[in-house]
Amino acid sequence: MGQWKQELEKAATILSRATRVTVSTGAGISAESSIPTFRDPGGLWDQINPMEAGTAKGLLRAFQTKSRIIVPILMTMLDRFEKAEPNAGHKALFDLEKMGIVRTVITQNVDNLHKEAGTTDLIEVHGNLFKMVCLSCGWEREVDRKPYIEMIRNRLSMIDVYDLDALLSLAVICDQCRSVMRPDVVMFGEAVKSMPRAFRVSAESDVMLVLGTSGVVFPAASFPVEAKKAGAGVIVINPTENGFRHCSDIYIPMKAGDALPAIVGKITGCSG
Ligand code: APR
Ligand code: ZN
Repeated sequence: MGQWKQELEKAATILSRATRVTVSTGAGISAESSIPTFRDPGGLWDQINPMEAGTAKGLLRAFQTKSRIIVPILMTMLDRFEKAEPNAGHKALFDLEKMGIVRTVITQNVDNLHKEAGTTDLIEVHGNLFKMVCLSCGWEREVDRKPYIEMIRNRLSMIDVYDLDALLSLAVICDQCRSVMRPDVVMFGEAVKSMPRAFRVSAESDVMLVLGTSGVVFPAASFPVEAKKAGAGVIVINPTENGFRHCSDIYIPMKAGDALPAIVGKITGCSG
């Protein structure tokens, strides 16, 4: 920690004076909740081809042709998501919200951990795995993490022929029209969510805090640039890379779960 003391202090000073802080998070902030990132070594895209798993059609084809590879990976992911809880990074962001510093969190993550940490103004641009939407009538409802994952795991373990019917057997049924519901997550090629608001909030920020994202996926990677253009200070926290070096004012090469509590401590005066 001492190694980046100066950067942490600078970030704490800037944040303590800010009133319209927007946070942009990616998979890295959930890494310390044991949810693998996508592009780190051994990450999800090392295990499965994103062009397969990232689209509904590709997922079905992978199920039908490579179930021996896909299903164990899915089972491992289900375990990780079932056990996942908000970590110190998620909780520190909520502390900063309670201190009147953080206003909005824009996340690319679908794991619901910001919501479970308490964040109230949350823009989930890639949707949420635990929100179901009906394919016929559009009815939406949330599901609880553990029972939902338990249901998927049980049904998955009973499948022996991986075809469309098998995939549909994993679905939640709509209370309104009895049709199939799907998790409300954005698959490749589908429209990302709440873009106008995400860009507006970024452009209105006085500080943009960028946490745990490689910055390779657009439009999410544009939020810090929009904020910078509007005069905001940009602080990046990421242990191994700074995909925003062209616009970051402070780069802290630390884990979010270490850096954020340290920054909160410096702002509240609880740490040296
Ligand atoms: N704290 C902060 N950052 C971390 C941590 C950590 N503990 N661990 C890893 N990171 C960083 C990595 O260095 C990497 O830069 O998090 C970043 C994760 O990058 P990606 O795996 O590319 O995830 P993300 O940026 O969220 O990907 C964006 O790509 O495939 C799509 O839909 C998918 O939402 C995802 C999008
Ligand atoms: Zn319906």
